[in-house]
Amino acid sequence: MKGNLIVFEGIDGAGKTTQIELLAKHLTEKGRRVYRTTEPTESVTGGLLRDALGGVSRRSPCEMAALFVLDRIFHNVNPVNGFNKMTADGVDVICDRYYYSSLAYQGSETDFEWVKRMNLDCPEIRSPDLCIFLDLTPQQSMERILKNRVTQDIYETEEKLEQVRNKFLTAIDALRERDHIRIVNAARPIEEIHREICEIVDALEM
Ligand code: TYD
Repeated sequence: MKGNLIVFEGIDGAGKTTQIELLAKHLTEKGRRVYRTTEPTESVTGGLLRDALGGVSRRSPCEMAALFVLDRIFHNVNPVNGFNKMTADGVDVICDRYYYSSLAYQGSETDFEWVKRMNLDCPEIRSPDLCIFLDLTPQQSMERILKNRVTQDIYETEEKLEQVRNKFLTAIDALRERDHIRIVNAARPIEEIHREICEIVDALEM
């Protein structure tokens, strides 16, 4: 039995954390072993990324894109809990963000094609078995962010979110043939979204 790599994407405030939690519970109840993880990771590179995202240090858009690629390679290949190891062991991996985020965020700040090639052509960055894109308008997202957060990260302004969402949709369009991607309307009650996600995931080969 192999594990699946399921990634969640969406602009900030789309509800990834909540839906990941619910999906992990659903899969566990079905008897699957589940490993939850995020990008940036807990690696040294992930630390550099978080410093830059939080404004502690300054990095250029290309530096950010390259650091995300390095962090993502580590996420795939590290022998302890990398994607390759976990899925080979039969564990389902649920990852909060993946290369679609690089295409959307770094792709809107620097050369989109370069970011795309760096990620998609890398032999050590695999395609997920499923990408769930939680879609929300920037206005809806901003409302949620302002209600729930004390701090905002550098990408959280409505104009920026609009730009990022458009890049996400461009990236999804470009990758439709290559990757298994599902767009889920995130402007609905939590339970309704969860049910749709369960149906999609339950249809995966396990
Ligand atoms: P996120 O995972 O949503 O955590 P939170 O919103 O709870 O702080 O945010 C991580 C940030 O990293 C988010 O602003 C998007 C950004 N990011 C990129 O710019 N490129 C990437 O490739 C990834 C994975 C994340």
